[in-house]
Amino acid sequence: MDTLVVDHPLAAQLLTRMRDERTDRAVFRQAADELALMLVYEATRALATEPVTIRTPLTETSGVRVTRPPMVVPVLRAGLGMLGPVLRLLPGSDTGFIGVARDESTHEPVPYMNSVPDDLDGRDVLVLDPMLATGGSMVFACEQLAARNPGTVTAVCILAAPEGVDRLDSTGLVDRLVTASVDEHLNEDAFIVPGLGDAGDRLFGTA
Ligand code: PRP
Repeated sequence: MDTLVVDHPLAAQLLTRMRDERTDRAVFRQAADELALMLVYEATRALATEPVTIRTPLTETSGVRVTRPPMVVPVLRAGLGMLGPVLRLLPGSDTGFIGVARDESTHEPVPYMNSVPDDLDGRDVLVLDPMLATGGSMVFACEQLAARNPGTVTAVCILAAPEGVDRLDSTGLVDRLVTASVDEHLNEDAFIVPGLGDAGDRLFGTA
């Protein structure tokens, strides 16, 4: 798995805002939106394009369009906080939803929804989840995708723990991970440290 940690001062500033416990929900949500946009910009750098011919007001010229927009898969709930900017950049993409909640006592993923088509027909996939902690939720989501004939799979996470990165890497299910930070470690409750708390709760309220 190729891991890209986006190193950009504006991304770092947005992440700092998200980490700050004083940041209220509206500002947190806005920062998540803007940071997700930067991450997806990097995650889509290798998208295939094809040439198109258009006319400007002055002359005919050539340009490009994305050949086949990737499938976008937010992992519910928190992945919804990253969906808006992704669909702004990829308005032609289909969206499939995978619902999986982490059991906070066992830290195991508990699935509750899957609307991804049975056959992705080789389509590339962007999987969105702000947090890669133990990796259980992301691995579960990527196992669901692997059974559906995907093209390349790119995980886009605002924050990751080294434990989650290693676990995801060991599955061989993901081609690329794009994140704003690989933090220090998981604590005894499997929360990312220093982290930003519970992204789903900060975006949407306590589950
Ligand atoms: C959080 C987070 C990830 C998962 C990360 O979701 O958004 O999906 O936990 O933990 P893991 O890597 O150890 O699986 P949560 O289960 O709290 O659900 P939510 O998105 O509904 O808040």
